[in-house]
This record gives sequence, C-alpha cells and structure tokens, in this order.
Amino acid sequence: MATTLAKAADGIGTATHAARIEHVSKSFAGPAGQQLVLDDITLDVAPGEFVTLLGASGCGKSTLLNLVAGLDRPTAGTIGTDGRPALMFQEHALFPWLTAGKNIELALKLRGVQKNERRERAEELLELVRLKGAHGKRVHELSGGMRQRVALARAIAQDSRLLLMDEPFAALDAITRDVLHDELTRIWSETRLSVLFVTHNVREAVRLAQRVVLLSSRPGRIAREWTVDIPHPRRIEDTAVAELSVEITEELRGEIRRHGQH
Ligand SMILES: Nc1ncnc2c1ncn2[C@@H]1O[C@H](COP(=O)(O)OP(=O)(O)OP(=O)(O)O)[C@@H](O)[C@H]1O
Ligand SMILES: [Mg+2]
Repeated sequence: MATTLAKAADGIGTATHAARIEHVSKSFAGPAGQQLVLDDITLDVAPGEFVTLLGASGCGKSTLLNLVAGLDRPTAGTIGTDGRPALMFQEHALFPWLTAGKNIELALKLRGVQKNERRERAEELLELVRLKGAHGKRVHELSGGMRQRVALARAIAQDSRLLLMDEPFAALDAITRDVLHDELTRIWSETRLSVLFVTHNVREAVRLAQRVVLLSSRPGRIAREWTVDIPHPRRIEDTAVAELSVEITEELRGEIRRHGQH
C-alpha cells in the first residue's frame, strides 16, 4: 500500500520524511511455493538525505527500490514517499528516437511545464550535468557516461523530492564513474534532493552516502547501518573511505558466507 507523505504533511508545508518504509515484506511465487525476498524492512529517508542500500547480488535491493517507486506492491507493510519519486536505472532508458534535449523536454512536458519554457529549462538541466550544447545530440551519438548524465538530467527534470537510483553507474568505466560520483554529489548538495541509491559496490556506497544500509540475503533484512561523516569532497582512494569500506566489506562477506552466495 503506497501512501503519499506529502498529503499527510499538508498544512505543515514540508514532509518529515522523503520515504518511509515500515515493516515491509515481499514474497514472490516460485517453484517451491512462496519465496520470501524481503523480510520486515523498516527504513526512513529524511528530506535531503543521501542513503545507499548495499547488499549482495540477489538480496532484494532492486525489489525494495521498485516497491518504493510504486512499480510493485509489498506483501506486507507500508511505504510512503514525499510525492512521486524520480527513477534512474543502470540502463539509461532514454528514447533513442529523441535528442538528448527532447528526452528532457518530454519529462518536463509530462510534469506540465509550458511548451515555451521547456527548451530553456532543458538547456539549464544539460548545463547542470555538464552537457552544455548537447541538446541536439541523438542518443547513439553520446558515450555511456554522457547518456547517464542525460538520464540524470531527465530524472531531475521531474522535480521530485526523492531520487531512486539502481546501480546507475555500474556499466561505466572506473574513471567515468568517479567523475559522475562528483557530479551527483554536487547536484545533490545544490538541489537538496533526497537520494536512495542501490549498489553492491562498497566503495561507491561509502564515497556517496551520509548513511550506508546493509541488507542481508535470503531473505533481505537490514543487517546493519553506518553513518558516514567523512567530509565532501571525498575521493574513492581517501584513507577514511578505504577504512570504512574495509569494515563494511568484512560485514558483507560475513553475510554472504552465512547465506552461501557468491
Ligand atoms: N518479479 C519477480 N518474480 C519472481 N522473483 C523475483 C522477481 N523479482 C525479483 N525476484 C527474485 O527476488 C530476489 C531478489 O532480486 P533483486 O533483483 O531484488 O536482487 P538485487 O539485490 O537487486 O540483485 P542485483 O545486485 O544482482 O541486482 C531474487 O532471488 C530474484 O530472483
Ligand atoms: Mg538489482
């Protein structure tokens, strides 16, 4: 059951949570009957907070993100979000027959932005993701990193207060990913968006987040969480990032050993 926290916050002006996940469980029908994938997950994302959700492959990260996005319904529990979230996946999911700019303008149109304002707003968003001048470029003319920048601009065009990201940089090379980490951190601090970011990459989780939440596997439960108070700008090779990553990796290894996954 999805509710909208913004409604609950009417009259106050601001919601107290960007997302509120309460006692959420999810089962799927499998060959051996119902398979419990997520078990009693309770997690809040505060307004403006950056949370990474970390866990082994198959532990239910995408399932949880899809539930928060409202693409599927929990078997038990409730999920509320402050308005409709924007989504960004590993695949850019841009429309190949539209230019970079028109992909963004479409998101603006769906949001009800007037035609005469869309072009200028799309240009601004392209500038925000450092793709000034790319408005007329077709998707196939863009590199993987540029496509993810356009996808990020399109997600921001939706003017949501919550951005849900499912391994959006996983297919990129290490250097491009590192640059996009910087960009995402900058955009997050400029826009004060709340971000729930899924990854199985521990360093990426620590590099980006204010809070890292570790999911166990089979079924996915919240195993542990860490507050990351390392100041920005962070680098992936910073000692503090490396030290916390080692600690979290140990815990993740323990989870994987306990549940017999790769
Ligand atoms: N629609 C579905 N129907 C049946 N089973 C599903 C469905 N969606 C996910 N699952 C199962 O739920 C489990 C968790 O899948 P999920 O995709 O959420 O994992 P993940 O943590 O995102 O993994 P990865 O890191 O590989 O992306 C898997 O065992 C998967 O097979
Ligand atoms: Mg996944």
